[in-house]
Amino acid sequence: MANVVRDPRSAPDVIIPDLATNTLHPFKKEDVALVYGMLWKQRYFTKVGDDYFPESAQWDVKNKVWREYFVKNGTDWWSTLYPPDNMQRPTGPLCDGCHSVGYDVQKKTVVEWNVGCERCHGPSAAHVANPTRVNVQNPGRMDAVHSNDTCIQCHSQGRPLTNPIAGRQYDWPVGYQVGMELSDYWRLEENKLGEQSFTHFADGTGHKNRMQGNDFVRSVMYKHDITCASCHDVHGTANPGQTRLLGNALCLTCHGAGEKNGPRATTLEAHSLHKAGSTGSECIACHMPRIEVTIADVNVRSHTFEFITPQMTDTYKIPNPCTSCHKDKDNAWATNVLKHAPGRSPWRL
Ligand code: HEC
Ligand code: HEC
Ligand code: HEC
Ligand code: HEC
Ligand code: HEC
Ligand code: HEC
Ligand code: HEC
Repeated sequence: MANVVRDPRSAPDVIIPDLATNTLHPFKKEDVALVYGMLWKQRYFTKVGDDYFPESAQWDVKNKVWREYFVKNGTDWWSTLYPPDNMQRPTGPLCDGCHSVGYDVQKKTVVEWNVGCERCHGPSAAHVANPTRVNVQNPGRMDAVHSNDTCIQCHSQGRPLTNPIAGRQYDWPVGYQVGMELSDYWRLEENKLGEQSFTHFADGTGHKNRMQGNDFVRSVMYKHDITCASCHDVHGTANPGQTRLLGNALCLTCHGAGEKNGPRATTLEAHSLHKAGSTGSECIACHMPRIEVTIADVNVRSHTFEFITPQMTDTYKIPNPCTSCHKDKDNAWATNVLKHAPGRSPWRL
C-alpha cells in the first residue's frame, strides 16, 4: 500500500506499459502527473490547475491490454452526479482520500501520497518527538470494531453521511481519523436481497473490488472479534495479499478438524473432499473464491468466508467454488457430491 500512487518524474519506471501501444485514448508521458496502481490495474492522472483528472485509458496488468476507463451511469452511485467526462471528474473528491494521508478538502493538498503510517496510527508528531505507547494509535490494541474500521475506511464501497461537502460529492469518509467512529462519517453501500447490482450479488456478497470491509462485517468471524490484522500484516510479508502465513497454515492457526472453531469433521480431507495438497483442499479456494471484479475478468477474493452452495448459483447467479473449478461439471453434480459426503447435512444444500 506504500506504493499505490507514484510520480513518473521521480520514479521513471513506474509506467508499466509502452504508452505508444495505447490506441484507445492516446496520451503522452508528459501528460501524466501521477500513476495509480500496479497489482491489478494502472490508471494515469493528469493535472489541470490544482486538480487531477483520470485519463480515459487504463492498463489491465494481468491481461496486458489497454481498456477504456470511464465510470458509466448506473454503476458507482456518483456517476450521475458528475458530468459524463473524465476531465470534469476530479480525483480529489472521488479517489485521493483513499490513496493518501491528510487530503485537505479546502486546499486540495495531501500531507503524503499513499497509505502512510498516519492513516492507520493517527497523527503522530507528538509520538515522533517523544515515542511512547500512549501517544500513538495502535489498531493492535483497539477493540475489534475500531481495529477493523482502520481498514474499512478505505476497503469498502459506501458514501459519506453528509454530501455535498464544500460543494462537491465525495466518495470517501471525509473527516474520519483512526480511533473515531467510522459510522459517524460513512455508511456502507446498501443492497437489496434477491437483486444483483453493480456492487452486490443477490445474496449480499460483494460483486466488485474494494469490498473486503462490506463482506467481512457480514461474516461469522467478524462477530467473533477477528480482525483484518488477525490475518494480514500490512507492514509487509512475502505472502500473496500480505497474509501473516501462507495458504492453509494461516487458517489452521485457529481452525482444525474437530476443533472448537471447526470445521466439524474428523479429518481435513473429510471436510474438503479432496486429498491434502490438492488445489481443491485449499481453505481459500472454497471459502474465499475470486468473484469480485477489479477489471475485465480479473477478480479479487470474497471476504464473507461463507461457502457458496451450487443452489445459490442456480437461484442467485452467484458462482460457486465447485463448478468454478470443475468447469466440465454442473451444479446438480456438485450438489449430489456434497449431499452424499459423510457427516454433511443434506438439509443445508
Ligand atoms: C494500513 C494500516 C497501517 C499502516 C499504513 C501502518 N501500520 Fe503499523 N500497525 C497497523 C496494525 C493493524 C497494527 C497492529 C497489528 C500488528 O502489529 O501488525 C500495527 C502495529 C504497529 C506497530 C507495533 C506496535 C506494538 O504494539 O508493538 C508498530 C511499531 C507500527 N505499527 C509502526 C508502523 C510504522 C512506522 C508505519 C509506517 C512506516 C506503520 N506502522 C504503518 C496498521 C498499519
Ligand atoms: C488510506 C486507505 C487504506 C487504508 C487505511 C488501508 N488500505 Fe489496504 N489498500 C489500500 C489501497 C489503495 C490498496 C492497493 C495497493 C496497491 O495498489 O499497491 C490496498 C491494498 C491492500 C492489500 C493488498 C496488498 C497486496 O499486495 O496484495 C491488503 C491485504 C490490504 N490493503 C489490507 C489492509 C488492511 C488489513 C488494512 C487495515 C489495517 C488496510 N489495508 C488499510 C488502501 C488502504
Ligand atoms: C473508499 C476508498 C477508495 C476510493 C474512493 C477509491 N479507491 Fe482505489 N482502491 C481502494 C482500495 C482499498 C484498493 C485496493 C483493494 C481492492 O481493489 O480490492 C483500491 C485499488 C485501486 C487501484 C488498483 C491498484 C492496483 O495496484 O492494481 C486503482 C488503479 C485505483 N484504486 C484507482 C482509483 C481511482 C482512479 C479512484 C477514483 C475514481 C479510486 N481508486 C477511488 C480504495 C479506494
Ligand atoms: C481470516 C483471514 C482474513 C481476514 C480476517 C481478512 N483477510 Fe484479507 N485476505 C485473506 C487471504 C487468505 C487473502 C488471499 C491471499 C492469497 O491470495 O493467497 C486475502 C486477500 C486480501 C486482499 C487482496 C485482494 C485479493 O483478494 O487478492 C485484500 C485487499 C484484503 N485481503 C483486505 C482485507 C481487509 C481490508 C480485511 C478486513 C476488512 C481482511 N482482508 C480480512 C485473509 C483474510
Ligand atoms: C485468529 C483466528 C482465526 C483465523 C486466523 C481464521 N479463523 Fe475462521 N473462525 C475463527 C473463529 C473464532 C470462528 C468462529 C467459530 C465459531 O463459530 O464458534 C471462525 C469461523 C470460520 C468459519 C465459519 C463461518 C460460518 O459461516 O459458520 C469459516 C468458514 C472460517 N472461519 C474460515 C476461515 C478461513 C478460510 C481462514 C483462513 C483464510 C480462517 N477462517 C482463519 C477464527 C479464525
Ligand atoms: C472443497 C471445498 C472446501 C474446502 C477446501 C474447505 N471447506 Fe470449509 N466448508 C465447505 C463446505 C461445503 C462447508 C459447509 C457449509 C455449510 O454446511 O453451511 C464448509 C464449512 C466450514 C466451516 C463451518 C462449518 C463447520 O463444519 O464447522 C468451517 C469453520 C470451515 N469450513 C473451515 C475450513 C477450513 C479451515 C478449511 C481449510 C483447512 C476449509 N474449510 C476448506 C467447503 C470447503
Ligand atoms: C480450486 C479448485 C477446486 C475446487 C474449488 C474444488 N475442486 Fe474438486 N477437485 C479439484 C482437483 C484438482 C481434483 C483432482 C483430484 C485431486 O487433486 O484431489 C478434484 C477432484 C474432485 C473429486 C474427485 C472425482 C473427480 O472428478 O476426479 C470430486 C468428487 C470433487 N473434486 C468435488 C468437488 C466439490 C463438490 C467441490 C465444491 C465443494 C470441489 N470439488 C471444489 C479441484 C477443485
